[in-house]
Amino acid sequence: MRLIKYVVNLVKRSPAPSFIVAIFLSLRWKCRVSLAARIFYPSNIVVGKGSRIGRCHIIANGTGLTIGCNVSISDNVILDVHHGSINLHDNVAIGPFVVMYGEGGVSIGDYTMIATHSTIVATSHVFESTRIPMKLQGTIAKGIAIADDVWIGAHAVIQDGISIDTGAIIGSGSIVTRSVPEYTIVAGVPAKVIRSRKDACAVEATVK
Ligand SMILES: CC(C)(COP(=O)(O)OP(=O)(O)OC[C@H]1O[C@@H](n2cnc3c(N)ncnc32)[C@H](O)[C@@H]1OP(=O)(O)O)[C@@H](O)C(=O)NCCC(=O)NCCS
Repeated sequence: MRLIKYVVNLVKRSPAPSFIVAIFLSLRWKCRVSLAARIFYPSNIVVGKGSRIGRCHIIANGTGLTIGCNVSISDNVILDVHHGSINLHDNVAIGPFVVMYGEGGVSIGDYTMIATHSTIVATSHVFESTRIPMKLQGTIAKGIAIADDVWIGAHAVIQDGISIDTGAIIGSGSIVTRSVPEYTIVAGVPAKVIRSRKDACAVEATVK
């Protein structure tokens, strides 16, 4: 009993030792957290069964971070809730070096894959005035919503206010400045529609 109290107190301390937080989260949520993960505000995190959290950096302030079942978060990922929220649904896969800020709210749907070095930042700077430094003009945060079964290629940038609908594909290196309809493949800077995945399905059906 004393030991449990001691561990809970250690976890509440910010920052608590990494290995204590990792063991606490792994036991509490029946998931696997790397002993080397740096996790701040662990009591704001909910994790589904079977999820794996690698040697990443998580700041879960704000309304917190929700991680579904069987989610994998690779090494060197940065998830910063930034006084907003990040919601990863079941079976999401996040590649190494992905950066996500949840200021305006970020939601990632079931089975969505986000490849290495992609950036999903749900905030942007105000720049209306030329007299005040932009750093002092504040930020706006609209939020980013990514639906189920989306594939985001390596080095993609998803801007604030964007929604990406079910089954879409974002080409590697794309900068997404407009929302993407369902089953649509977009690529480039700025990202433009290449084609719909539904066209390929129609061809497949005709061939059969
Ligand atoms: C988007 C993607 C899925 C499209 O694949 P595809 O359907 O085989 O596309 P194609 O090779 O037929 O290319 C179609 C057109 O889009 C262009 N294009 C494809 N991917 C592009 C990209 N990432 N950026 C800019 N243009 C791209 C091609 O140059 C081609 O243009 P053209 O018709 O003028 O010649 C693929 O290119 C891609 O980016 N995959 C992500 C790879 C990745 O990040 N892997 C990380 C590990 S998961």
